[in-house]
Amino acid sequence: MKPRFITLLVTGTPGTGKTTLARKLSLLLNYAYFDVNSFAKTAHIYSSYDRKRQTYVVDEAKLAMELVKVREKALKASKTAQKGIIFDSHLSHFLPSKYADLCLLARCSLKTLEQRLRKRGYSVAKIRENLDAEIFDTCLSEARELGHQIIVFDTTKATAAAVKGLAVSLSKLVRT
Ligand SMILES: Nc1ncnc2c1ncn2[C@@H]1O[C@H](COP(=O)(O)OP(=O)(O)O)[C@@H](O)[C@H]1O
Ligand SMILES: [Mg+2]
Repeated sequence: MKPRFITLLVTGTPGTGKTTLARKLSLLLNYAYFDVNSFAKTAHIYSSYDRKRQTYVVDEAKLAMELVKVREKALKASKTAQKGIIFDSHLSHFLPSKYADLCLLARCSLKTLEQRLRKRGYSVAKIRENLDAEIFDTCLSEARELGHQIIVFDTTKATAAAVKGLAVSLSKLVRT
């Protein structure tokens, strides 16, 4: 039987390790990797500009529609190449749940998150905003509300073996 095309979402607060995890999984599972953040930027999927936070506000409904199209294209291309796609972003859960097999939520300890964001050169206010998002489980509650099947993966001390183990469990889970 031909394997089904799999769609994985990796979400979580910025700095929790989504990109690291999504890239590793895409190699281990031979799924295409898709960077939702740069896509939203280049495709201008914004509804407004937040002056105070100095950031563009993503148009969630438009993003959802565009991600469905991206998945559709990858699905067509999968006949010759990869057998799945991994969407990476704190916005990836906006792909409607009927198109997603699983939503992986990356998280880490608050101390680790603060250290990672500081290393990134984020301002005090931006670090605070992201720590609050992690404390209030913003991505997790949004993903739940949108009806995703969720697996939480803690990257605080995640070793290469743990990621490999996750890849094995995922490949079994999405095929049953
Ligand atoms: N499992 C891990 N173990 C140690 N450091 C990690 C791990 N995952 C991510 N990091 C580090 O944390 C930082 C943020 O990771 P990144 O994948 O860019 O997060 P995100 O995409 O969620 O913003 C990077 O410096 C990365 O090297
Ligand atoms: Mg990232």
